[in-house]
Amino acid sequence: MLFDSHAHLNSERYNGGDLEIIAEAIEKSDLAYVMDIGYDLASSVAAIEHAKKYPWCYAAVGCHPHDAKTMDEAALIMFKGLAKKPKVKAIGEIGLDYYYDHSERDVQQYWFRRQIQLALELTMPIVIHDRDANDDVMRILKEEGVFSRSRIEKLGDAKLLMHCFSGSKELAHQYVKLGAAISIAGPITYKNARKIIEVVEEIPLEHLLIETDSPYLTPEPFRGKRNQPDYVEYTARKVAEIKGLSYEEVARITCNNAKKFYTIE
Ligand code: NI
Repeated sequence: MLFDSHAHLNSERYNGGDLEIIAEAIEKSDLAYVMDIGYDLASSVAAIEHAKKYPWCYAAVGCHPHDAKTMDEAALIMFKGLAKKPKVKAIGEIGLDYYYDHSERDVQQYWFRRQIQLALELTMPIVIHDRDANDDVMRILKEEGVFSRSRIEKLGDAKLLMHCFSGSKELAHQYVKLGAAISIAGPITYKNARKIIEVVEEIPLEHLLIETDSPYLTPEPFRGKRNQPDYVEYTARKVAEIKGLSYEEVARITCNNAKKFYTIE
């Protein structure tokens, strides 16, 4: 059993009937769960629709840092309503992206904080996007109290997932020590994956989840094609190779980790 802890079935790149074909592929594969992750209001609504339609699908709602410039108070209230819908299991993906800077950095930071506050208010897990913003992401998470004792006591850990982790092994250790989990995506299968391989070597499997971030970040041997959730198998196989474990064991443990993180029975 596999769990794709981060996918965008809500992406417009699956429009035009492709989603039905992908759903069939998912149903024929080892994949038991897919978390469809919102990146703005419309995609969050779409994720909830998918969760309603497919028994294996769950949803996260939130505004990506790229789209922070589209946020306002009314949108935040809408997100709060969406977060309470059935099968919505997390706030995300939220964070900072200083690589593309599609929104001004102060605007990104402002809505990152407001969405963290929403997740804390609703006592929900948080899915983080961090690209070239390691220091500010960590600082803001700390300042907003994501690692507070009261949250950890209520939830068992910080319920924070570092999606498509690309930082150093030292940073991964810091997050795990604070009660966060690390998600590994397709780039682990690429030739230049040295840094992320070190993370997988160092961090115990109980703190690792796996994901596709489909339609992006397609793993080998399909790199260059559009990604889809059942390809998470290739990331699981690579993690198994690095850890010296069987594919089945990595699939089972990372699936259980994701079910626990997202509180799915
Ligand atoms: Ni994503």
